[in-house]
Amino acid sequence: MNSVNPLDTRAWQQLGELAQTERTLATLFAEDPQRARRYSLELAQCLKLDFSKNLIDDRVLGALLALAEETGLRDNIKALFAGETINRTENRAVFHMALRNRAEEPMPLADGTDVMPQVRAVLAQMKAFCAAVRGGGWTGFNGRPIRDVVNIGIGGSDLGPYMVSEALKPYHGELRLHFVSNVDGAHLAQTLQGLDPATTLFIVASKTFTTQETMTNAFSAREWLLAAAGDTSATARHFVALSTNAAKVAEFGIDTANMFAFWEWVGGRFSLWSAIGLPVALAIGFEGFEQLLSGAWEMDQHFKTAPLEANMPVLLGLLGIWYRNFLNAPSEAILPYDQCLHRLPAYLQQAVMESNGKSVDRNGQPVGYHTSPIVWGEPGTNGQHSFYQLLHQGTHLIPADFIMPAQSHYPLGDHHAKLIANCLAQSRALAFGQSEQELRAQGEQPELIPFKVHKGNSPSNTLLLPKVTPHTLGALIALYEHKIFVQGAIWNIFSFDQWGVELGKKQASVLLPCITGDGDTSSLDASTRSLLAQLKDWA
Ligand code: F6P
Repeated sequence: MNSVNPLDTRAWQQLGELAQTERTLATLFAEDPQRARRYSLELAQCLKLDFSKNLIDDRVLGALLALAEETGLRDNIKALFAGETINRTENRAVFHMALRNRAEEPMPLADGTDVMPQVRAVLAQMKAFCAAVRGGGWTGFNGRPIRDVVNIGIGGSDLGPYMVSEALKPYHGELRLHFVSNVDGAHLAQTLQGLDPATTLFIVASKTFTTQETMTNAFSAREWLLAAAGDTSATARHFVALSTNAAKVAEFGIDTANMFAFWEWVGGRFSLWSAIGLPVALAIGFEGFEQLLSGAWEMDQHFKTAPLEANMPVLLGLLGIWYRNFLNAPSEAILPYDQCLHRLPAYLQQAVMESNGKSVDRNGQPVGYHTSPIVWGEPGTNGQHSFYQLLHQGTHLIPADFIMPAQSHYPLGDHHAKLIANCLAQSRALAFGQSEQELRAQGEQPELIPFKVHKGNSPSNTLLLPKVTPHTLGALIALYEHKIFVQGAIWNIFSFDQWGVELGKKQASVLLPCITGDGDTSSLDASTRSLLAQLKDWA
C-alpha cells in the first residue's frame, strides 16, 4: 500500500492555484450546454450520480484525477481487493467486500486463505435461522413463536443494521424490530415496555463482546427475561450472538451454536454485510438480505474496474477533497429525500468520521492538511424548515448530497411529487440563487432586497435511485464506503482503526467507582472533582 504525502504532489500545488479562481455555477452551466450530461455517471437501473452542480471545471477535475494518480490510488484499491493488511495499526485486512461476493469465486486474503467457505457457512446459518424464526418454528420458553426482536449493540453493531432496517421498512414481514444501543437505562427500559418476554428474541451484536454499553444492556435484558421465565435455560431460546469472540459469548451463557460469527477483517462500521446484518435478514427475509449484498457487490465491481474518471466513489471522494482542502469547507450535509432513509446521516457520521477523523499520517507524522469533514444532515423536507436557511444565506460553504428515489413505496396522493419538487428546487436554489437584479425585476421592495438575495453557488451532488430497494440501497451504502476509502488513501491516513475512541472509554472505567462507591478522586482535575461532588449531592 502506498504512502505518499499529498502535499508533495504536483497536483496538490496545482489545485491550490486553481482554487484561487472564482467559479460560478451559473456561468459554468451557461458556458457548457453538455455539462449535466458530461458530469453524470450511472450504474444502470441502480443509481445515477449528477455531479454537475459542483464548483469544478475540466481543469479542476483533471487536477483532482492527477492527485489520485500521483498518490497511487489505483495501487491502494488493488491492495484493498487483494486482502492486504492495510489496517496496519491493528494488523488486519479490510475485506468486507468478501461478505457480499455474489460470484461463485474465491476471495483470498493476501496470505492465500480463501474466506468464502466461512462466509458462505455463516450465510447458510443465517438463512436457516431466519426461516425458523420467521416461519414460527423457533419458539420461546413457553412454546409460542417470536414476535419481537431486540438488537442490542452500539456503533457499527447498531447504526448499520438500524439504518438499513428503517430504510427497508416497506419490505418488513411480521416480526417487530427494535434497536437498543445507549447505556442509558431509558433506552432498554422504554424498548421493553409492552414487550412479552415469552415472545421476544434478543440479538447481542458485538464484534468484541466486551463493549460496556452492549454488555450492560445484554445483562439487564437477560434479567428481564429470566424474571419472567423463571429458569436460566430460557436464555438459549431467547438470546443469540453476533460476534467474533466465541469465548466471551459462551461466558455470557449463549449457546455457541446460536452464535453467528464474523472475522477480524470485518471492521465494525463496515459490518452490516456480515452476521451483524441478521436483524435486517429477519425483518425483510434472507432473500432480501441477499439482494442488499448484491447491490453492494455491484458497486464493488464498479469501484474495482471503472476508470478513475468514470468511477463514482473516486469522483465523490475527490470532490470532497476539493471542498475540504482547497475551498475550506468544514462539513458536508447528507440530505435524503426519503423518510425511510432518516438514519442515513447518523450512519454516515460514524462511517466517515470514525474512519477519517485522523490527524496523523501513515508514517505517524502530523498531517499538514485537513482530513474528514464533519458529516451531518436530516431527511428532506424537515431539514428545509430547520437549517436550510444557513445553507442558503449563511457564511459557510457546505457541499450537500441530495438523495432521491424516483418512486415511492407509499403512493399517497401527490406526496411524492411534492417531495421530489422540493428536492430539485433546493439543489437549484442553492446552485443558482436569486440575484439583486432578479428581485428588482420582480418588483421587490428595495429596502428588503439585501435580505432576500440568495448568493447561490452552493455545490451539491444529486444521487438518484429508481426506488429504495435492498439492491439499490446496498449499492448506495457501498458507494459511500468506497468514497471513505478513496479519501483516506489520498490523505495518507489509516481509515480502518479508531484509536481515538479508547481514551474516553478508559477514563469512564476509572470514573465509575467514583460514582458508584468511594473511588479515589485525588488525581482528577478540579472541574471533574467539583462535578462529581455536585452529582453526589443531587443523587
Ligand atoms: O466506537 C468504537 C467501536 O469500536 C466501533 O468501531 C464499533 O463499531 C463499536 O465500538 C462497537 O464495538 P463492538 O461491536 O465490539 O461492540
